[in-house]
Amino acid sequence: MRSGVKMTAQIISGTEIAKQIREELKQEIAELKEKHNLIPGLATVLVGEDPASQVYVKSKVRTCDALGVYSERYDLPADTSEEELLTLIDKLNKDQKIHGILVQLPLPKHINETRVLYALDPKKDVDGFHPVNVGKLMIGEPDYLPCTPHGIQQLLIRSGVRLEGAEVVVVGRSNIVGKPIANILLQKKDGANATVTICHTRTKDIAFHTRRADILIVAAGKPKTITADMVKEGVVVIDVGVNRIGKTESGKSILCGDVDFDAVKEKAKAITPVPGGVGPMTITMLMLNTVRAAKLAAGLISRSNATESKAYPDGEASSKYSGTNIRTKGDQTSWPTNLHSSLHKLLGKSLPLMISGHKDVKVLLLKFLSDVLGNLKARSSTKDSSKTRGSAINKLNSSLSKDYIISGT
Ligand SMILES: NC(=O)c1ccc[n+]([C@@H]2O[C@H](COP(=O)([O-])OP(=O)(O)OC[C@H]3O[C@@H](n4cnc5c(N)ncnc54)[C@H](OP(=O)(O)O)[C@@H]3O)[C@@H](O)[C@H]2O)c1
Repeated sequence: MRSGVKMTAQIISGTEIAKQIREELKQEIAELKEKHNLIPGLATVLVGEDPASQVYVKSKVRTCDALGVYSERYDLPADTSEEELLTLIDKLNKDQKIHGILVQLPLPKHINETRVLYALDPKKDVDGFHPVNVGKLMIGEPDYLPCTPHGIQQLLIRSGVRLEGAEVVVVGRSNIVGKPIANILLQKKDGANATVTICHTRTKDIAFHTRRADILIVAAGKPKTITADMVKEGVVVIDVGVNRIGKTESGKSILCGDVDFDAVKEKAKAITPVPGGVGPMTITMLMLNTVRAAKLAAGLISRSNATESKAYPDGEASSKYSGTNIRTKGDQTSWPTNLHSSLHKLLGKSLPLMISGHKDVKVLLLKFLSDVLGNLKARSSTKDSSKTRGSAINKLNSSLSKDYIISGT
């Protein structure tokens, strides 16, 4: 055992955080149906019989059912030709019931994955892997964030980890985890603004970098890539790796991550377990993207303009990041997935809102509020716009408990 004060890491539970986000989504999906007769739809496409892929697809379909997302499942034989697959994608691209398409990777060797990926309508690319969506993320105007990296960002934000100015070190540079999480966290946005280093197998001295990390994100795909001597005291560790290292007597896979969990947790401030860390977040963020795709398709939110890119994902990020606690009364655990839509709900339903936390959060809320009011204004041709804004603020304040007031100009 090391000398000095022993640190007990906070366990960042992806299971719990995913559950929280799913509850929020369930509510939102029910409202979309009730108010707009809109049911988000996801098509999953699996080619071949890879057992792990079958498990993933099954789990995605089950989650759709649990949340009220419409799903279509296409399980194609391993000898499906590329042309047949492209024909199916073309059909799904045009299908209005389907807002998101997920092609389960890897595809059999005779199919060109890149060609298939490029064939997806970027508007339905809820995985966020299409080059259009990768590019939009790069320039800070994402329509969709890729699911696993978005899940990682949410784990950090919702655990109260400060990202602004943090030294983040990412081990792994894949297109599905390493590069996109680095990209997300270096954006000039709330819930990001980190200084990011990416390491890979050609990095000269990985430990030199990992020891500097305030936040270490590991997606290498190898057990014990990170050992205790490679991290500093007080680091926050996100272990993305999923490695099958054996089977239980009942035949269930034994999983471990890329980090030597038992040793590193003695030095870390917080750490994700495997399983139960990043894993449960990935499907949850897929559901979030599907809901978002449906709202974009229905024109309920707009695509990648400055306002919208602030509302998503910054809206969530900024408020939580600043330590705000926003919840509708009677549901103490609920945190709105999308602050913009929650303000719509507020104005529509006059639900009481409790606000506590940093004063910047109030400014942020007011910014969102004025966006909402801007929309109201646009719709109101008869009323003077400042009156519309004023009366909506009054309406909001009068609906609040007297202890909690939104104020400001
Ligand atoms: N929980 C989830 O939802 C989820 C989602 C996706 C992935 N995963 C898991 O995350 C892990 C990574 O997945 P991936 O798709 O990103 O893997 P990948 O495509 O195999 O990429 C691994 C990356 O790690 C780097 N790397 C490997 N060993 C290293 C080492 N010893 N030191 C430094 N860098 C090293 C590789 O460097 P080079 O580029 O130089 O080869 C590569 O960039 C896997 O275990 C996967 O199962 C989990």
